[in-house]
Amino acid sequence: MFKPNNKMLNSAALSLDAIVTPFSKKQEILNMIKNHTPVKPLTKDQRAYFNRVIRVDQAGELGANYIYAGQYYILSNKYPHLKEILQHMWDQEIHHHSTFNKLQLKHGVRPSLITPIWTVGAFAMGAGTALISPQAAMACTEAVETVIGGHYNDQLRVLDKLFKDRELIDGEGNYEINEIIETIKQFRDDELEHLETAIKYDSKDAVPYMVLTETIKMICRVAIFAAERV
Ligand SMILES: [Fe+2]
Ligand SMILES: [Fe+2]
Repeated sequence: MFKPNNKMLNSAALSLDAIVTPFSKKQEILNMIKNHTPVKPLTKDQRAYFNRVIRVDQAGELGANYIYAGQYYILSNKYPHLKEILQHMWDQEIHHHSTFNKLQLKHGVRPSLITPIWTVGAFAMGAGTALISPQAAMACTEAVETVIGGHYNDQLRVLDKLFKDRELIDGEGNYEINEIIETIKQFRDDELEHLETAIKYDSKDAVPYMVLTETIKMICRVAIFAAERV
């Protein structure tokens, strides 16, 4: 009777391995991906702050989207020279808003519970100031972008402090921190560009400039405070 010796058995095992290996490797890789855990998971405080950033920024960008919608609705036909610049800033706000919508879904962060107020209030603010004058609309933009630019810088400072451990930031499990930091930096720069545009288009000539800008800044600060908590 035929009896395979050890050498033959080893050879058969090797042949089998050659066939099976690609599949078992594939499974192994799939398991690694499935069970992948961050190098250092976020602490409870870090996760809470991370979620808060996404919630308030999503609400803020939704507001900005509707402010520019209101301005565009009132001014674009009456003042054709403003049409293109308003459209450009509005497009950027739509991009900011949709980016935070995606981040919100991706990280399972609940939206601000008073979102309908942001939508109606923001459109009313954009349209209302535009009805006063184009300069008043620009003063609104100047005030909003001053507060939002500062707000983004505040967040960047806290993120840097809270996530300053470079290993944590660079660890492949925490790419999400880098993603949010880079997103905020980019959007902060866009908002400061909007601020410069508003000044270039005569925001300082708005009447009454001080009342408008200071009131709008206060409204924005209250809105940020509320959206971070509710
Ligand atoms: Fe924005
Ligand atoms: Fe903006």
